[in-house]
Amino acid sequence: MQLSIRDILTTMDYGPAPEADTVAREWLRSHDGGFDHFIDNAWVLPADGARFEVSEPASGRLLAEVAQGGEADIAQAVAAARRAFGPWSALSGHARARHLYAIARHLQKRERLFSTLESLDNGKPIRESRDIDVPLAVRHFYHHAGWAELVDTEFPDHRPLGVCGQIIPWNFPLLMLAWKVAPALAAGNTVVLKPAEYTPLTALAFAEICREAGLPPGVLNIVTGDGRTGALLVEAGGVDKIAFTGSTEVGRRIREATAGTGKKLSLELGGKSPFIVFDDSDLDSAVEGVVDSIWFNQGQVCCAGSRILVQEGVAERFHHRLVARMELLRVGDPMDKSTDIGAIVAPVQLERIRRLVAQGCAEGAVCWQPKTPVPEEGLFYPPTLLTEVEPASTLAQEEIFGPVVTSTTFRTLSEAVELANNSRYGLAASVWSESLNVTMEVAGRLKAGVVWVNCTNQFDAAAGFGGYRESGFGREGGREGMAEYLAPVESVAPSMLPAGKRLSALPDYAAEVSVFAPQTGIDRTAKLYVGGRQARPDSGYSATIHDAAGHAAGQVGLGNRKDIRNAVEAAHKARGWETMTAHARAQVLYYLAENLEARAPAFAERIESLTGVSASLAKEEVAQSIQRIFWYAAQADKYDGAVHATRTQNVTLAMNEPWGVVGVVCPDESPLLALVSLVMPLLAMGNRVVAVPSAAHALIATDLYQVLDTSDLPGGALNIVTGNAEELALVLSQHDDVAALWYVGTAAGSAAVERASAGNLKYTWTNHGIRLDWRDRRRAQGRDYLRRATQIKNIWVPYGE
Ligand code: NAI
Repeated sequence: MQLSIRDILTTMDYGPAPEADTVAREWLRSHDGGFDHFIDNAWVLPADGARFEVSEPASGRLLAEVAQGGEADIAQAVAAARRAFGPWSALSGHARARHLYAIARHLQKRERLFSTLESLDNGKPIRESRDIDVPLAVRHFYHHAGWAELVDTEFPDHRPLGVCGQIIPWNFPLLMLAWKVAPALAAGNTVVLKPAEYTPLTALAFAEICREAGLPPGVLNIVTGDGRTGALLVEAGGVDKIAFTGSTEVGRRIREATAGTGKKLSLELGGKSPFIVFDDSDLDSAVEGVVDSIWFNQGQVCCAGSRILVQEGVAERFHHRLVARMELLRVGDPMDKSTDIGAIVAPVQLERIRRLVAQGCAEGAVCWQPKTPVPEEGLFYPPTLLTEVEPASTLAQEEIFGPVVTSTTFRTLSEAVELANNSRYGLAASVWSESLNVTMEVAGRLKAGVVWVNCTNQFDAAAGFGGYRESGFGREGGREGMAEYLAPVESVAPSMLPAGKRLSALPDYAAEVSVFAPQTGIDRTAKLYVGGRQARPDSGYSATIHDAAGHAAGQVGLGNRKDIRNAVEAAHKARGWETMTAHARAQVLYYLAENLEARAPAFAERIESLTGVSASLAKEEVAQSIQRIFWYAAQADKYDGAVHATRTQNVTLAMNEPWGVVGVVCPDESPLLALVSLVMPLLAMGNRVVAVPSAAHALIATDLYQVLDTSDLPGGALNIVTGNAEELALVLSQHDDVAALWYVGTAAGSAAVERASAGNLKYTWTNHGIRLDWRDRRRAQGRDYLRRATQIKNIWVPYGE
């Protein structure tokens, strides 16, 4: 029906505003609707000829047939990337920068092709792909062209990793590609990328762009396929890093599969991000915030603000305004420029949304959906608000990944923080209040990698993005994102090993550990150190420590699972260590170093007798330990964050935050210096530590108790549990309340720790059995340790009217 201007002015309704999809369809036609893998700058037939269909979520129409990658395809792509790695990494940073600029420009020239293709393939509104996905992808390549230029000067003594296997999801297909490919190439790596099976098309178009822009063959390879192809890439030999974005469940499997291989890993997983509305916030802005937060990209956003927490006094008013706003949202054709909510990516996802909402309603939630029509054909779901949602219910805990938001009320700031943190995830959060004090207090206390103050879903290539807890580890974007694609020059990459060898196959080097045996007789055993006091081991058992000549030198307690539990509890209680000023922490550590110095001769003697090194080496070890404590004490108030140069009208703070409670398992060599080198960076940054010292030379650690007692270190900041290091390492890796674990020991132990940590996706740093010379200041001390001792929280604070 043709509307007259009078009709339009009366209803003020939008007419259809379709975006032409001709460029995208022509491009598909130019490929006869079928695609092979992209390897070595050429289209390569899948080895076994297998293919699958890719269709349009909005209509169900077939878009293309795409190759299903198998083992041979992955091997071919990895081999191409390997061949290309040498020459690509040998290029100057400037030369690589020119390539990245060329890619950015070519992409920019094709913005229309990419945005229409993305909307057809994914079902997202064209307004979003045109204004957000594609421009941000372009921005990532420009930004990282800059990093390529600067990598030598900004990251001295670092090298690229080698071949990176990258696996991306379907919610932001091109943007996720840009987040992964741009930093990898800038750092000098080569790439094998596997796009998601629902949305591979923009990645394939991107491959063509790279070839056209003159990227050398093999630098970027694309193998399409489903989860099986992804798993093959994870397991493939010759891959040095896996970067994954997707579900927590698959992230966990990838952690297990890469355990012990030495492949560097970054995981960007699910979320259940809180959207906190205080009673003094600008409610209308907060309502618009919800729209951008959960109805952006149909809510299929890992950092979607899917849990509203609203202060009790304004809850009714807020819900009322939100429901009214929901009536105005338009659900339908993604290619229509006035569509707010497009199609859900696949039938299985739509089913999941329906099932979870039905379950939530059965559990007592109240469901609000607008009366505006939803197309009957295609995969559509209306915007949905669920109120009266219990914090522990499925709806409040599970990632729904659809246009569904829950709402729960709170009374006080502390309750808001507690509810917000009551999640296994920790990706993002949005905080709304007109009070700067309130927002910054809350931002600091939230366990989330990104916090948006009075705004939401802000992204930029210059700021890191990534999660805490089961939302994964590693950051994408900014300086912190670049670090994920680099390693210290001297480190060993898995692909540098002789053919067929995995890192975990290197010989174990652990010194022989004394056989532990129950002891009888007078108990003169050194106890454990828990909560600032000596504590008897739960087992009641102790172990004899022998000196270098094989004589019994003393006994230490044999800690077990329960002792670790007590130590972790004590560490959690010592939160004051984290909240005290960095200056105060530094003073405590200086004092500790001085106290160690006062006992230096005794420690040197102990080292000499236990390890058999010469007197001068033992003396040197103590001296170096003291110096190292001073170095980290000095860093306590200097290893600070940054203000990222993101978009205008925004201050984006990158804050280095301690992990919380960290486990440390120490090696046998240089027992005092290694312990100090591992524990001190963590303490300096405000972590609380549960340390398992060298089992063979545990008396060195128990001698430290006196030093700790006479220093001002608060009880619980450093806990020491002696015993079988390998067993205790496993207990620490499985412990849900230990946020991170540093393990230095055997290759087998490293693999076991990585595997065991998959349960709660704990960040682990292991040495893969590779011996480190703790006296080598360049490798055993430095900013890399401080970087590992912290995780970065990016806080976005907008300003202006
Ligand atoms: P998914 O994690 O299975 O898929 C993401 C990517 O991983 C795809 O490229 C897929 O082919 C690949 N993959 C699947 N299994 C793999 C394996 N064993 N090894 C290596 N790669 C593998 O996610 P899916 O099934 O598409 O969605 C399920 C749920 O996951 C969603 O409902 C949502 O809750 C969550 N999700 C979260 C995302 C995020 O950005 N955090 C993105 C996509 C999904």
